[in-house]
Amino acid sequence: MEVATPAGRIAYGPVSPAGVAGLFDADFLAGGAHPTRQGVTDDIAYLRNQERVTFVRCGITDPLSLADYESHGGFRGLRRALEMAPAAIVEEVTQSGLRGRGGAGFPTGIKWKTVLGERSDCKYIVCNADEGDSGTYADRMLMEGDPFTLIEGMIIAGLAVQAEQGFVYIRSEYPHAFRQMQRACDLAREASWLGPNVGGSGKRFDIHLRLGAGAYICGEETSLLESLEGKRGVIRYKPPLPAIKGLFGKPTVINNVISLATIPMILERGAAFYRDYGMGRSRGTLPFQLAGNVKHAGLVEKAFGLTLRQLIEDFGAGTRTGRPLRAVQVGGPLGAYFPAALLDLPLDYEAFAAEKGMVGHGGVVVFDDGVDLAWQARFAMEFCAIESCGKCTPCRIGSTRGVEVIDKIVAGKDAVANIELLQDLCLTMTDASLCALGGLTPLPVLSALRHFPEDFDCPAAAASAAA
Ligand SMILES: Cc1cc2nc3c(=O)[nH]c(=O)nc-3n(C[C@H](O)[C@H](O)[C@H](O)COP(=O)(O)O)c2cc1C
Ligand code: SF4
Repeated sequence: MEVATPAGRIAYGPVSPAGVAGLFDADFLAGGAHPTRQGVTDDIAYLRNQERVTFVRCGITDPLSLADYESHGGFRGLRRALEMAPAAIVEEVTQSGLRGRGGAGFPTGIKWKTVLGERSDCKYIVCNADEGDSGTYADRMLMEGDPFTLIEGMIIAGLAVQAEQGFVYIRSEYPHAFRQMQRACDLAREASWLGPNVGGSGKRFDIHLRLGAGAYICGEETSLLESLEGKRGVIRYKPPLPAIKGLFGKPTVINNVISLATIPMILERGAAFYRDYGMGRSRGTLPFQLAGNVKHAGLVEKAFGLTLRQLIEDFGAGTRTGRPLRAVQVGGPLGAYFPAALLDLPLDYEAFAAEKGMVGHGGVVVFDDGVDLAWQARFAMEFCAIESCGKCTPCRIGSTRGVEVIDKIVAGKDAVANIELLQDLCLTMTDASLCALGGLTPLPVLSALRHFPEDFDCPAAAASAAA
């Protein structure tokens, strides 16, 4: 809980309903002393040491006040974009180095350029707010905490590729974010930021909201488009890319919430401002999401290049149980498990790929020494079996066979042959699956085998991992 006082914003917490009366007794509205008083919010190291670019207004402004939004820089990016030619907007985004924050890290500018280059009577902007990765919540926090930023980013995307309609596909388990987006769109429409005359420019753009179908696979872009069209969420073959033939067969930009919500800042401050953050080809910042067995879970926006250790130890303050950290899963349920020995790995798309992992949407789930990595590997295969859309055999059948093979390895049945079989199965899933659900499930499985062979209770696993 925070109160605005003449001395700045003062934080109290954690606060329970039962503790509220005591806060009033302590005159907390004037910043009075209380055991839960954390001091001036801006001085709290967890917040002070972040580099908030996309989340710069979250927690600061009233999420549904347009006046507050504008007085904190809101719509400056859009005002600039309204003065620019579409190709110039696309070039600015390209130069910023922004890569898609939904997981695949595809350069946003290149995607937009493809859609801009398509000739069509109708194009769409689709925002992927399905956020199905375990341990992630940045999209939800953004939609709840600063919904106008996403709206502004979508309008700019529309201007850039000459689309007049946008859709936000919001995870069904996010009712509050859905309502918040609904209210924010209504307010933006009343103020003519959405509708037939965006910001008085005579240009048209409007946004429609849709609640997701409750399936992990509906976060994959082609399944999402099927679902948006009212069909079952099943993967489409590519090509054609959605940029060429997307929603209702029209050229479509499909981007993650964070990708789109970062656009206003890039247009406001310029490409170079954003590109100056980060390392290598991973430019800008990412809202990392700390979860699992960690003392201070939460959202930490930092430039790429921060190490896992800095994130978990400096921000997260280590494990919640106080027991030694044993594994970290980065990048959602399809991400690799890393051992404590790899904590100095910098959070960078290429550095993680080189270690057979991925940064993904920035989810970081911490486990202490109580974790059983053989069980986690089994869970990855089981998750894939449950969430598979069923369109291709390596994923639909392979994931079920994967669970069975891991069970046999752990039970010590023909361990050498079954480890070989598991590796072969993973290779088939990686190379032959139609989409990344089947294609990436081997990442957590093989990383568990490679880094934690002892959990498979089988000397063959250790030998195979060492090889
Ligand atoms: C199984 C699966 C689930 C996915 N779930 C999401 C999701 O929940 N949110 C998201 O933004 N991208 C998700 N993606 C990635 C999307 O397919 C797509 O790459 C992304 O929406 C593109 O936006 P971006 O370029 O801004 O990242 C998922 C991909 C796969 C294979
Ligand atoms: S990999 Fe799995 S989810 Fe993807 S198309 Fe194949 S069956 Fe469907």
